[in-house]
Amino acid sequence: MEVVKVVAEGFNFICNLQFWRMSVLWTLSLVFSYLKLFSYGFLSPKSNIYSRRSPKHSTFANTAVTRPVCIITGATSGLGAAAAYALLEEGFYVVLVGRSSERLSKVISDLKSQNQDACLKGFEVNLASFESILEFKQSLQQWLQDSNLHSSVQLLINNAGILATSRRLTSEGYDEMLATNYIGAFCVTKVLLPLLENSPVPSRVVNVTSFTHWNVCCMQAGRETVSGKSFMKSKCYPYAHIYEYSKLCLLLFSYELHRKINLTTKSHHLSVVAADPGAVKTNIMREIPSCVSQMAFIVLKFLGLLQSSKTGVCSILDAALAPPGVSGVYFFGGNGRSLNSSPLSYDADLAKELWVTSCNLFQESQLAS
Ligand SMILES: NC(=O)c1ccc[n+]([C@@H]2O[C@H](COP(=O)([O-])OP(=O)(O)OC[C@H]3O[C@@H](n4cnc5c(N)ncnc54)[C@H](OP(=O)(O)O)[C@@H]3O)[C@@H](O)[C@H]2O)c1
Repeated sequence: MEVVKVVAEGFNFICNLQFWRMSVLWTLSLVFSYLKLFSYGFLSPKSNIYSRRSPKHSTFANTAVTRPVCIITGATSGLGAAAAYALLEEGFYVVLVGRSSERLSKVISDLKSQNQDACLKGFEVNLASFESILEFKQSLQQWLQDSNLHSSVQLLINNAGILATSRRLTSEGYDEMLATNYIGAFCVTKVLLPLLENSPVPSRVVNVTSFTHWNVCCMQAGRETVSGKSFMKSKCYPYAHIYEYSKLCLLLFSYELHRKINLTTKSHHLSVVAADPGAVKTNIMREIPSCVSQMAFIVLKFLGLLQSSKTGVCSILDAALAPPGVSGVYFFGGNGRSLNSSPLSYDADLAKELWVTSCNLFQESQLAS
């Protein structure tokens, strides 16, 4: 009986157009990204490659920063947990952000068992809630003060993300996937910007995006779309399209913030980069029927496109540890390699419109809370 139920659930799932969009278009965009990477390597080897610079080898002498602080959102699973492990080894004080206190405690004890000297702190934050993000800012500032750490942050990794297959609304009325993947990342960056700018040593924001952004060929950046309302009109929840859209928003936001920083001399030491891990076996497909997700992993593995968290995290680490001047770059493929993202992601007018919409949503949430 159970088997029949599982098969029926899987069958229903694959009868949806979104499934075919995900399985065909996402695979094609991943293959396209690797082909682009190989063509770069062939035509202009060494260009677009950035070596890593570990804080272990940077000297913070004469500065108030004794140990750089790195915040990782979505650190209780997959790539976030893998990034936390690697950045602890690099000498960061790692602040883990997760929405479940049990999962946070579990990942903290796992990391401590692997590295007893690990400097770790966990904060329970729901990125799909503006109130929770504001509370986080206050608790973080208090903790920095109580721990005698400099009142600044050196690295923020906006990694939290979901692939929701059903329509759900947040308490603020936004689509949950857009709220987590994009609006949450925008708001966290906005509220932490003063701490990043206050860093006496170079600081950085890393936004974790995805090759799936290539599948959005035209987009709107008005309030209705960014909050997810315009997607509510369709009968079936267009989950694959919303996921791609949220990842394109992250890229537009990364490049727009990069341009804004370059215009102000105040923030000259702050940089913004995007990182794309490729296809990685994590819990991201948790809402997809297990028979379908297992099949997808088998096919991706057969095609040589599937990575473990340990290898998939490389582009995030490349982005986090690239030399201080590197900004406005899209890391993909590991080994310090970067690519150009889709032409739409470089549309400066669209990015401006998205910025204005996001700031309006941010201000409304601020007023409401
Ligand atoms: N895996 C891939 O193939 C792939 C490819 C390209 C890009 N990415 C991106 O990589 C990032 C990490 O994903 P992953 O593959 O490591 O997936 P994952 O294993 O599912 O991890 C996602 C993390 O985000 C957290 N999270 C989700 N919603 C949250 C919320 N409202 N507030 C706070 N934290 C929240 C999850 O917390 P819980 O543990 O509480 O669920 C989890 O720690 C995502 O942005 C994803 O879009 C992944």
